[in-house]
Amino acid sequence: MTESKVMEEELKGMAQRDSLTRLYNHSYLKQRLGAELEKARNNNSSLSFMLLDFDNFKYYNDTFGHPAGDELLKVFGRMLEAKLRQNDIIGRYGGDEFGIILTDTDEEKALEIGERIRKATLELAFPNKEYMPVKALTISVGIASFPKDGSDAAELIRTADEALYNAKRNRKNKVKLYFSAFKGLEKELGSESSILATVRTLISIINAKDRYTYGHSEKVMEYSEMIAGKMGIKGQDLLDLKLAALLHDIGKIDIDPEVLNKKDPLTREEWELMKEHPERGARLLMECKILKQAGVITLYHHERYDGKGYPHGLAGEDIPLGSRIIAVADSFDAMTTKRSYKKAKDMNEAILELKKGAGEQFDPKIVEIFIQILDFYADFN
Ligand SMILES: [Fe+2]
Repeated sequence: MTESKVMEEELKGMAQRDSLTRLYNHSYLKQRLGAELEKARNNNSSLSFMLLDFDNFKYYNDTFGHPAGDELLKVFGRMLEAKLRQNDIIGRYGGDEFGIILTDTDEEKALEIGERIRKATLELAFPNKEYMPVKALTISVGIASFPKDGSDAAELIRTADEALYNAKRNRKNKVKLYFSAFKGLEKELGSESSILATVRTLISIINAKDRYTYGHSEKVMEYSEMIAGKMGIKGQDLLDLKLAALLHDIGKIDIDPEVLNKKDPLTREEWELMKEHPERGARLLMECKILKQAGVITLYHHERYDGKGYPHGLAGEDIPLGSRIIAVADSFDAMTTKRSYKKAKDMNEAILELKKGAGEQFDPKIVEIFIQILDFYADFN
């Protein structure tokens, strides 16, 4: 190779690398993901994309300064290179976010790799480790797999990001596969059903407006389904409940996102407007015959067991069962999720709040059942 050729190759290499960690950079990683997907498609093989980021990087930077933060990014990058396989393509996606292309890797294998990295991160040695809130660096990991979760680079990045976001809202230090509420509904409704298309459209409107509501709706559906399972709710009733859980906040689509995400307390007018969302949502859903019962459940999801809720002040068993279930699931997820204006409660604090609200805000029977479910899952964690 001539000298200029060598230099050209070197420059090309530099353009693909992140100057701090020497891993691949964002633009190269994206471009490479496209190319690897093409190969996977041609070879009929699987591919997974993993996005991960640090849970407490801001704390570390603020406490020990940015040079220390940069050093941590480098140490972490070297650990990734050591722990991953030869063919894995590792990049710094930006800030403290990393992206990894796992060729020939299905979802199950990717989950295993994600867990391996999560554990290795807990053991990672770095300066000032003992002063971290949990005395270790923790990461959250999101995984999306081709072809199941996306067929092009943009879609796979989006679904991996969605999974990462889910790992974060599940109290961090977690590896999460992309999960779509539609998968479950698709089975029940059939993928061609027009109702599914309607629900999908409604959800994409909420999603575009307020990302929190989307992840939230899926969680509320998951919890509601667990409670329903324990209570023996089946068939059409279960389907109506699931649809309502997914769409219970649809009435917020007219509300200004600035109000939805406001850090300061709402003004009186803003609060009045916010309180209209059950009725607005119900009206919208009831227009569609097949979503009628979901509309009824939505209408009453902010009623309280003691009759002090809204919009109608119904009490006890006058409140539809589905609405009483969603009220518990909704509050629990809201309590355990971090939002722009509040910190997340941990599981035990949230359970305590549910117990406090039993008989007042919530149906005590449903609280009892839900706590049993949470205890059951806690044993596995
Ligand atoms: Fe609501």
